[in-house]
Amino acid sequence: MTKILVTGGAGFIGSATIAEVQKSGHDIYVIDDLSFGNRDFLTIPDTYFHQLDILNGHGLNEVIQKIDPDWIIHLAAIHFIPYCNQHPLKSSNINIQGTINVLNAAKSLKNLKKMFFAWTAAVYPICEDPIPETQQTNPLHIYGLSKLAGEHLMNEFHLQTSIHTIICKFFNAFGPNEVNLHLIPEIQRQVNSGLRTIELGNLEPKRDFIHTYDMARAIIMLLNKFDSGIDVFNLGSGQEYSVIDVVKEFENQLGEEITIKVDRSRVEKSRAKAFTG
Ligand SMILES: NC(=O)c1ccc[n+]([C@@H]2O[C@H](COP(=O)([O-])OP(=O)(O)OC[C@H]3O[C@@H](n4cnc5c(N)ncnc54)[C@H](O)[C@@H]3O)[C@@H](O)[C@H]2O)c1
Repeated sequence: MTKILVTGGAGFIGSATIAEVQKSGHDIYVIDDLSFGNRDFLTIPDTYFHQLDILNGHGLNEVIQKIDPDWIIHLAAIHFIPYCNQHPLKSSNINIQGTINVLNAAKSLKNLKKMFFAWTAAVYPICEDPIPETQQTNPLHIYGLSKLAGEHLMNEFHLQTSIHTIICKFFNAFGPNEVNLHLIPEIQRQVNSGLRTIELGNLEPKRDFIHTYDMARAIIMLLNKFDSGIDVFNLGSGQEYSVIDVVKEFENQLGEEITIKVDRSRVEKSRAKAFTG
C-alpha cells in the first residue's frame, strides 16, 4: 500500500484527487490549514488529517517525518488571482516559502519516491493556440510569478535528491467543491438565485476547462506511469471555451434564455486574469 500525502488536500482539486486515490485503497494523509479548503470535502479519519499552515516549517517537518510518505502531492497554495493581487506578499510567501518548507521536509525522508507539484497555465502569456509544454513562460501577475518560482524549486529539489518529480501545469478546473468564485461558480450562483439577466465582467477571454475528476485521474495516471527523472506536463482538455459558450451551456441545461449584462467594474478585475488559477 502506498502512503500518499496531499498538501492542500481539503481544497477543490485536492478533494477530487483524494476521492480518486481512495478507490485504489492507498493510505492518504492530508495537510491543509483550511484557509480556503473544507474538512467536510474529505472522508478520511481525523488521525490522517493535519490542520497545519505550510509556513510553519518546524511543525510541517515534524508531521511529514512522522507520516513518512511514499508520494507527496503538493497542491497547497493561494491561487485565486484577485486574492493574490490584493495580498501579494501573503500569497507569494505561501506559494514560495511554503513550497520551500515542504521540500525541505521532504529531502530527509527515507521512503519518498515521488513528488508532484501543481503548477499553473497562468505562467504562460495569453495565447491564441493550444499551449505546448515548450511554450516560453511569461506570467502576467504575482500568482503566476510565485508558481514560476515553484518550478525552479522543484528542479533544484530533483537535482539534490534524484527523487522522481512531476510538475504539472493545470489549466482551468471546474467541478464540485469549488471554493473560489471563478467564472462557472459565479454564473451558477447568479442563476441559482433565480436571475436570468446575469452580470459578468470581461467576455473576451477563452479558457481551457478541465473537470476536476479528469484532472484527478490524470494526476494519478502520471504518478503511476512515470518513475524517474523530472517531467513537466500541461494538463487541460485542449479545447477553448469563451464566456458566452459557458453561458450557452447553462441555457441548454436550464432550457431558458440567459441575458448577459457587462458589469464594467468587473471588467478591469477580470482583465488581470486571463487564466483562472
Ligand atoms: N483551480 C484551478 O483552476 C487551478 C489551475 C491551475 C493550478 N491550480 C493549482 O492547483 C492547486 C490546487 O488548487 P485548487 O483549485 O484546489 O485551490 P483551493 O484553494 O481549492 O485549494 C488549495 C488548498 O490549499 C490550502 N492552503 C492554502 N494555504 C495554505 C497554507 N498556508 N497551509 C496549508 N494549506 C493551505 C487551502 O486551504 C486549500 O484547501 C494549487 O496549487 C493551484 O495553484 C489550480
